[in-house]
Amino acid sequence: MTVIDLSAVAVRRGAAPGVRAAPPRGPPVRTPPTSAALSRAVLLVALLTLLGIGVPAPPSVGAAALPYQDPALPVATRVDDLLARMSLDEKIGQMTQGERASVTPADITSFRLGSVLSGGGSAPTPNTATSWADMYDRFQNAALGTPLGIPMIYGSDAVHGHNNVVGATIFPHNIGLGATRDPELVRQIGRATAEEVTGTGVDWTFAPCVCVVRNDRWGRGYESFGEQSALVSSMTSVIDGLQGAALDEGGSILATAKHYLGDGGTTGGTDQGNTQLSEAELRSIHLPPFAEAVRRNVGSVMISYNSWNGQKLHGHAYLINDVLKGELGFTGFVVSDWNGIDQLDGATGFTAAEVRQAVNAGIDMVMVPTGWRQFISLLRTEVQAGRVSQARIDDANRRILTKKFALGLFERPLTDRAYTATVGNAAHRALARQAVARSQVLLKNDGNILPLASANNRIFVAGKSADNIGYASGGWTISWQGGSGAITPGTSILAGIRTAVAPSSTVTYHPAGTGIDNSYRAAIAVIGETPYAEGRGDRPSGMGLDATDLATLNTLRASGVPVIVVLVSGRPLDISAQLPGWRALLAAWLPGTEGGGVADVLFGTYRPTGKLPVSWMSGASQQPINDGDGKTPLFPYGFGLGYSGG
Ligand code: GLC
Repeated sequence: MTVIDLSAVAVRRGAAPGVRAAPPRGPPVRTPPTSAALSRAVLLVALLTLLGIGVPAPPSVGAAALPYQDPALPVATRVDDLLARMSLDEKIGQMTQGERASVTPADITSFRLGSVLSGGGSAPTPNTATSWADMYDRFQNAALGTPLGIPMIYGSDAVHGHNNVVGATIFPHNIGLGATRDPELVRQIGRATAEEVTGTGVDWTFAPCVCVVRNDRWGRGYESFGEQSALVSSMTSVIDGLQGAALDEGGSILATAKHYLGDGGTTGGTDQGNTQLSEAELRSIHLPPFAEAVRRNVGSVMISYNSWNGQKLHGHAYLINDVLKGELGFTGFVVSDWNGIDQLDGATGFTAAEVRQAVNAGIDMVMVPTGWRQFISLLRTEVQAGRVSQARIDDANRRILTKKFALGLFERPLTDRAYTATVGNAAHRALARQAVARSQVLLKNDGNILPLASANNRIFVAGKSADNIGYASGGWTISWQGGSGAITPGTSILAGIRTAVAPSSTVTYHPAGTGIDNSYRAAIAVIGETPYAEGRGDRPSGMGLDATDLATLNTLRASGVPVIVVLVSGRPLDISAQLPGWRALLAAWLPGTEGGGVADVLFGTYRPTGKLPVSWMSGASQQPINDGDGKTPLFPYGFGLGYSGG
């Protein structure tokens, strides 16, 4: 008869949601259990699991009482041990992600939630790095207060810097980074972003977007590195920066390749629309960046809202299970998009059938920002009814837990405050300024009016985007849709110009161009798009300049002063009619907080090297227009002028 020694396994204690002091920095010193005690414990665990009783873990601070708490053991061993101790509810909790505004620390403890997210613009008050870190630690301590003490993982959209946080460095959006053609620069940006994210406690970014934008009408085109699959694949170097040499090294966070699959190829450029392509076209245009991301060991993949030939990706078992996880060998975890499972049946409110289809299709973690209680209940019923297998639940948990162990969350669950001071620091802003300069694409420069002389010059600056960090940053900046004005600390393009000129020069500014006269030697019109995100940025009809900009340009043109246009936009705009009246045109894209990089090009501190990441239409009726499609663009993919004289 086998005598089971209960002393090896602590009896389950009630959730203790108290705040736990942060464990000493670095992996704790642990006393590994004896082999006899271990075998007894495993036997008991198996017995209790058969009885459907989860097995608690004693406090993990100090000696490693159980295998999954022992960092000396292989991650796979730790996952196996932990999985064997988890109840069905604990496993379902790990697959559930709620939004911070709809989750309390007590909810995390009670429902065993595995993840919390910040949606676009969702931030603590005050919105500071330290406040984020404090918020993160409150949620994490609640997770550590559960019987098994499984840490939660916190996700946020750090898509061009840690853009939800006031004071963070805001880098150029991806469309501008694609213009740099510089994977190493983009890797460095990933690293800088990861450090700032780490400093706020957040472990996971929903970035990079590795979509391939094929229609510039799409409101998310600026989240793409460009229209060519190879260019986008080259820019997955950002994953190396975000995830570092190892996920558990300081300053590394989990990256997400998104949105799988084909979101940039919808008919008409409609956000969340239908991507009508053959499988061969889908594979050749949209799949390679994900294959490259997987090769770089990206930790998670987010599923896209669009459909492929009428079938929603959130329920697409072939593309997720067979292609992503099977053919590409993706071993991280798949996360749904925001309420993405609710789109499967076309009706509002997710159902058991939608939960079943999404989880069986291969989604491992489900982003259910507010409806997470209902999700837990529906999935539990589906598993108990045998319509979602225990094996699928275990596979999802194995994938999620593997990344949590790899991140070192069990050993260092709380914010590494050593990185908090990196948020918006001078080194990151200098890197961002370099990226801004390298992203500028010079499209026209008649008479070599550029570069401008910085000394003894008289320059008139106009345009609604000149002194506006919000416009220069675009969507996904402080708020979901972005905003106007000094929304976060930085240098506007106008401020960059003012700093670049010598005291012997005059710079006059009026947004509408009012007051210009022919005493000025050049007029710089900083114009373009106001911020938008996702579908709100779709342009199904005209793609020209807005009335404000057209009026400003008319005022400048009437003065007879040569006009240099700096276009701040997330995409090419239909400017063919106005272009002849401009002496020069610089595509600035969405540069972010370091507008000094634009001035660096205007005054020749940096000689332009940027190349178009997308074809520039001759007119909106050409959309979609892409390299090699036989259409004649105003400026072709890859075009970009330098300054004469080398
Ligand atoms: C959004 C976006 C996705 C983002 C997620 C969380 O709807 O589609 O890119 O990561 O929700 O904010």
